[in-house]
Amino acid sequence: MLLVTGATGTVGRPLIDLLISEGAEVRAVTRNPRTASLPVGVEVVEGDPSRPDTITSSLRGVTTLFLNPAAVGDAAGDLLTLAREQGVKRVVQLSALAVVDDLHREHTIATHHKVLEEAVTSCDVEWVILRPGMFAANTITQWAGQIRAGNVVRSPYAASTDAPIHERDLAEVAVRALLTDGLVGQSLSLTGPQSLTRQEMVAIIGQVLNRPLSYQEI
Ligand SMILES: NC(=O)c1ccc[n+]([C@@H]2O[C@H](COP(=O)([O-])OP(=O)(O)OC[C@H]3O[C@@H](n4cnc5c(N)ncnc54)[C@H](OP(=O)(O)O)[C@@H]3O)[C@@H](O)[C@H]2O)c1
Repeated sequence: MLLVTGATGTVGRPLIDLLISEGAEVRAVTRNPRTASLPVGVEVVEGDPSRPDTITSSLRGVTTLFLNPAAVGDAAGDLLTLAREQGVKRVVQLSALAVVDDLHREHTIATHHKVLEEAVTSCDVEWVILRPGMFAANTITQWAGQIRAGNVVRSPYAASTDAPIHERDLAEVAVRALLTDGLVGQSLSLTGPQSLTRQEMVAIIGQVLNRPLSYQEI
């Protein structure tokens, strides 16, 4: 049995879909089962991974855990201890490329993920660390409102680059890490196929929408 934390989130939803299509036995933890809207075939359980005592019973029978820092917060140490006690044998942790990026190594996000990685890799379990760069979905959370309202996206750092990764691609790697043995003990840097400036990302969205979108640096 797999337990997925962060199951209702950006990575969690495509991950759950793929695991179900693979025929895996999946339990999804959420703080709000009534509004979770997860697919048939998933066992949905109520709990908050940032308060590990709330998921003790959900860990029974679980051998593999997907750890999402957004859901776990600062409770990884306690959660991992509990998971080990309950018989978890493998942990796949969502981390961030910022951990290995010289520019961001001192950043709070990098530090938070590094602490989590250390907790996972020093725990007596098989582990896989996934270090994605920018999620493609960030363009939706950051710009969708402006694009609905008009043809100009106002945002900073027009020329800064990222190689956005689609969440489903990330979820596909997570599925391999959860269901097969080939990635055990590896920390994987994961990006999309092409480095793009913010300006270029907006231009591509404009091409797809057939609208003359432009980027105005603020
Ligand atoms: N965005 C990026 O470009 C990017 C790049 C690299 C790495 N990352 C990392 O990826 C992780 C985020 O993944 P994601 O976008 O899939 O997560 P998400 O969608 O932000 O959140 C996943 C789920 O976590 C639960 N959650 C959120 N806040 C919580 C809280 N305070 N306490 C307890 N549960 C909470 C919610 O589930 P319920 O409401 O159902 O409980 C939520 O649906 C972060 O560690 C982030 O640093 C992000």
